[in-house]
Order: sequence, then C-alpha cells, then structure tokens
Amino acid sequence: MTQRNIWIMGNWKTNPVMTQDASNLAQQLAGAVSKQTVQHKQMMIAPGVIHASTVATHCSEQLWLMGQDCCAYTQTQGAYTGDISAAQLAELGAKAVLVGHSERRQYHQESSELLTQKIKHVTASGMLAVLCVGESLSEREAKTHFDVVAQQITSVLQSVTLTAAQIVIAYEPVWAIGTGRTASPEQAQEVHAAIRVLLAKFDTEIAEKTQILYGGSMNPKNASALLSMSDIDGGLIGGASLKADDFLTICQAA
Ligand code: PGA
Repeated sequence: MTQRNIWIMGNWKTNPVMTQDASNLAQQLAGAVSKQTVQHKQMMIAPGVIHASTVATHCSEQLWLMGQDCCAYTQTQGAYTGDISAAQLAELGAKAVLVGHSERRQYHQESSELLTQKIKHVTASGMLAVLCVGESLSEREAKTHFDVVAQQITSVLQSVTLTAAQIVIAYEPVWAIGTGRTASPEQAQEVHAAIRVLLAKFDTEIAEKTQILYGGSMNPKNASALLSMSDIDGGLIGGASLKADDFLTICQAA
C-alpha cells in the first residue's frame, strides 16, 4: 500500500481585512514550522490574493503558499478584469491552487468546463490543482452524494490527463462547510474510498498516489479521528485555519 503524506491546507477565504493580521498569522505558522513542532506534514496556506505577496515572505518548503482560485481564460496575461492568472500566482511562489471550491461554484456559477480550463492553466504553470468536490445537503439526503461527487470528478478528468503529482482532490460536503456540522469519519472515509475506486478507472497510479483531503468544519477536536481514516490524506481547513493555535493543533493531530 502506498504511504501518502498528510497535507493540511488553510483556506483563509476573504479573511482577514488587515494585511498586518495576515502577516502575523503567517508568521506564527512559519515560526512553528521552523521549530519543527510540525513534522512529516506538508502545511499550505491560501491567503486572499491581496495579502499573498506579504504572506509569501513567510512561506518556505515546509509552509507552502497557495492560491484560492485563478483565471480560466488565460494561463498568463491579458484583458480579464479582476482575474489573477495561474502564471501570476506561480510567480508569487504559489505551489498549489484551489479549483472549484463550493463557494466559487455557488456564487460564481462555475461549470465543469470552466474548472477544467483552470486546472489546465494551474498545471501548465507547474502548480498542483486542488479540485474541490462535494454534495449539497439535499443531495446527501436524497442519497445521491456518490453520484454527485463522481460526476464532478469525471467531468474534469475525462477532459484533461493528469498525474498524481498534478492533482489533489478535496472532498468537502457543502453541508459541512462553515456549519460546525462535520461529516463523521466513517461518512468521509466512505466517500474517499469511492473516489479512489473512481480514480482507478482513469489510472491505477493516480488512484494510489493522489492525496484526497477532507474539508468541512474540521477543527482541533475532530481532526484526529478524521485523519486516522485510511483514505483521508489531510484536511482543507477554513474557519479553524484563521487561528494559528487551532491550525497547528490540527496539523499535529495527524
Ligand atoms: P470550514 O471551511 O473549515 O470553515 O468548514 C472549509 C472550506 O471551505 O474549505
């Protein structure tokens, strides 16, 4: 069985307002990493782009910078008002970019075609694409969650050929994001295992090596149980990534 590492990603979303607060948070995480209180884990943080160049000064091989999104229409540059290109994120030092977070799907009506374009640009820029998938509450209640997640992944993977070094899947049930209602370790493991079976239909190496992260109200109390499941290779953390102590506790929980 392939031994996968544990990856813990902090998604800061549109927080905080002040650059100084973003810098302080990154500095605290960088300090913990340099004292090696977090070992054998890869920590990553995705600040808002407005703070990214400041946060980048605290990032390192142990604490990677990530983007939260990128432009679908160009890999490099052009007339796309308000967009940030994959090449611009890479130039800042970002190593990975979130693609298709449920908040992007919900508030910006992002389609699978659009996400596929973004993934092509992210990987062409030498970064990892973190494809976020997950069902809504009504889809979970209708027991269609496996189909929803399979469709979200298939629609991308059938249009672009990727290696395990280029893609990460983050399973984030929408009903668990920011709600304090976490999927149980068993519920999450069940979907992660199904994702791995699905990936095997594309490529056995991708299925074995791809990091599949769980996201949705992961916190210092529930992290250890979730991260102990065999197909959960880390976490995508929103709210709890905004407090350095909580984020570090989650990193240490694995
Ligand atoms: P949450 O967010 O940890 O606040 O639920 C997770 C996410 O949106 O990635």
